Amino acid sequence: MKIENPTPIQWQFSVRAQQLQSSVIREILKITMRPEIISFAGGLPSPLTFPVEHMKVAFDKVLSTQGKVALQYGPTDGYAPLREWIANSLSIDGATISPDQVLMTSGSQQGLDLLGKVLIDEGSKVLVETPSYLGALQAFSVYQPEFVSVPTDDHGLIPESVAAIGKGARLLYALPNFQNPTGRSLSIERRLALVETCARLGLPLIEDDPYGALSYRGEPLPKMLNMNPNGVIYMGSFSKVLTPGIRLGYVVAPQVLARKMEQAKQATDLHTAQLTQMVVHEVIKDGFLGQHIPTIRKLYSDQCNAMLAALTEFFPAEVTWTKPEGGMFIWVTLPKHIDSMKLLDEAIAQNVAFVPGAPFYANAPEQNTLRLSFVTVPPEKIREGVAKLGKLIAAKM
Ligand SMILES: Cc1ncc(COP(=O)(O)O)c(C=O)c1O
Repeated sequence: MKIENPTPIQWQFSVRAQQLQSSVIREILKITMRPEIISFAGGLPSPLTFPVEHMKVAFDKVLSTQGKVALQYGPTDGYAPLREWIANSLSIDGATISPDQVLMTSGSQQGLDLLGKVLIDEGSKVLVETPSYLGALQAFSVYQPEFVSVPTDDHGLIPESVAAIGKGARLLYALPNFQNPTGRSLSIERRLALVETCARLGLPLIEDDPYGALSYRGEPLPKMLNMNPNGVIYMGSFSKVLTPGIRLGYVVAPQVLARKMEQAKQATDLHTAQLTQMVVHEVIKDGFLGQHIPTIRKLYSDQCNAMLAALTEFFPAEVTWTKPEGGMFIWVTLPKHIDSMKLLDEAIAQNVAFVPGAPFYANAPEQNTLRLSFVTVPPEKIREGVAKLGKLIAAKM
């Protein structure tokens, strides 16, 4: 039945597709899969934290009691009881979030893509932190915006700088808690100032918050969403508090935007798997996260401390790094003359990996920066890997 001599296709990719590139991190991850490598490169949560047994019991319960619903097509905006649970959990600090504002997505990465789809035209001004989450830069890039980098300092994004550059922009994308890649958090004062500035400009403020629950010390700071639910679009994810493999996230947006994103999602994938939404609801509905999240915080906090101690012990005095109070990342700044991309080649030869900082910048990359993740490496390996890196850096001083 196979036809003879088909004309070879000259693929004509769209202009949009021609600009697509593989994430540097994904490329590095391929190398770091080798078991001998001590990898500080991945942004993957620790598999030690995955609640495999709870998921197993929940899958079984959902399939045996509601199997016909779970395996059917579902609504685009998501499984109603889960959207209600999310709306309730976010209705704090005097704000009321309605389930109609919640759109379930296939990971919050899809939320970023949908935001880009409905808010960004070619050349639209999009404000991002310096540096910012690489996956967001990738997702927005498809829609060909003009990225404007918002200045930051050791305490994160500087709200005063937004007033001057934010006019006419389509959105500002911010990560207030334990930012990926720097691990920095915004103070309450800066959150308020940022929300006020954006409200004054009529500028939609995206609050991407996959790490907020992973605070090592006390309760997380107030959400910007609750400071202005009409102007802040909140993004949450189950990837870092349950498991990333289920690909479940959500966007909380004012009604008009939520409905537009729902239409965009319908065109993209109809809906996020009903089965996984029902299972996640089954797992969390009776307070499981309240017991589970502290165990993740403890593991990550211990490993973060191990890395901070090793950095102090092995890195030359000219190197600086952030001291995160939650989340998964430490950001390192080397002396200006050291290019972290070149350092990576030498590190891999020594069986250690990290992510160079340059890809996290929308504009003007700082080549002397790098990101370290400590969550999937046990403390003794953290010490060994940091010692090797320290030696390579010291040789360049
Ligand atoms: C800041 C940030 N936003 C979004 C995501 C995407 O998460 P998800 O697994 O929910 O798609 C990540 C993943 O690492 C992230 O770090």
